[in-house]
Amino acid sequence: MSNVVIVGVQWGDEGKGKFVDLLAQEIDYVVRFQGGNNAGHTVIVDGKKAALHLVPSGILHEGKICLIGNGVVLDPVVFVEELDTLIGQGVDVSPNRLKISSKTHLIMPYHKVLDKARENKLEKGQKIGTTGRGIGPCYEDKVGRVGVRASDLADPDLLKAKIAAALKEKNVLFTALYGIDALAVDAVFDEVMAVAPRIIPHLTDVSSELEQAWNEGKSVLFEGAQGIHLDIDHGTYPFVTSSNTVSGNAAAGSGVGPNKLDRIIGILKAYTTRVGEGPFPTELNDATGELLRTSGGEFGVTTGRPRRCGWQDIPVLRESARLNGLTDVALTKLDVLSYMDEIPICARYELNGQETDAFPFPAVLPDAKPVMTAMPGWKCDISGVRKWEDLPEAARNYV
Ligand code: IMP
Ligand code: MG
Repeated sequence: MSNVVIVGVQWGDEGKGKFVDLLAQEIDYVVRFQGGNNAGHTVIVDGKKAALHLVPSGILHEGKICLIGNGVVLDPVVFVEELDTLIGQGVDVSPNRLKISSKTHLIMPYHKVLDKARENKLEKGQKIGTTGRGIGPCYEDKVGRVGVRASDLADPDLLKAKIAAALKEKNVLFTALYGIDALAVDAVFDEVMAVAPRIIPHLTDVSSELEQAWNEGKSVLFEGAQGIHLDIDHGTYPFVTSSNTVSGNAAAGSGVGPNKLDRIIGILKAYTTRVGEGPFPTELNDATGELLRTSGGEFGVTTGRPRRCGWQDIPVLRESARLNGLTDVALTKLDVLSYMDEIPICARYELNGQETDAFPFPAVLPDAKPVMTAMPGWKCDISGVRKWEDLPEAARNYV
């Protein structure tokens, strides 16, 4: 098989992990290229169930090589916890099948403290709804050129100096602005050094690993996290995550040329969900939304938060197709809608008295009104259907 990128085309939680699982049969390598342990999915393979946040989901498939690219932000403590969980389940997580780029930035204890302190301080309406895992502050330090990279674990003096420099600034924020305790350099250093020996053996040059894989005729799957409307540039800024979630970042975030990305598969849910704050024009804040949430089991894997639920938004999908260069789409959870007589979808938006096919820019989104169309429902159980022809006509029309 060729190389594929899997991305979420809405606000995340579209069911990407399931497709990574399906395609894992045909591929040799699974690579993560952005995000961190803000992501999460439950995978069940051969009766083994695991909630993974950081380790690529291909790890549960024997023989697959899993790589964590330079574009990821890695919490070393969480990584080791995940290793231990997987080891407990008898999964092979040896360094020859689970590798981390030496260039990957590390989420440090102070990033997590800062993430939460800052969010707590924000007024209602300004809060991002962050998972509080330190993702944003870690990317800030990376871009600010003061971050800690995985390779620094092998150089304790350098690591300590970087921690000391970071805390000089962060402790002022903690004590003077947020009214919380300062962190001690030694405590942070010790916490990270305690797990360093478990991480160092996994470090490698991911870019060269991938080149070698291709020289041997192997195929690679790039596993995206979150969704396109959480992209730092293209999402509903500022209510976004802190990385580029678009497919193009699969290249930059793992160190390969964009010509290596053969297929871009967008995963979309039959309706829309969003976790955290931010605009969601087709959201249902009523009993209908509640029914969708319980029918679809819409609760976050990472934070357990109930997901906000609403109707399908076609302008969102159209924009995703453009931003990602989708070559394929995969639809999930169509069966969840089986109970409905009619299924509303947002076909277009109305803005200043004019209709538009485009998803409105965040600044004018509050003034935009979804133009809804109702599609007839199919009212029968389709969960056992395996062929397109066997779907009821109304379901095919909806697709
Ligand atoms: P952060 O990336 O943890 O700072 O969170 C920023 C925003 O992205 C919040 O609204 C989160 O709920 C959302 N978010 C982050 N990761 C995921 C994910 O994997 N699925 C869905 N939403 C996410
Ligand atoms: Mg997820």
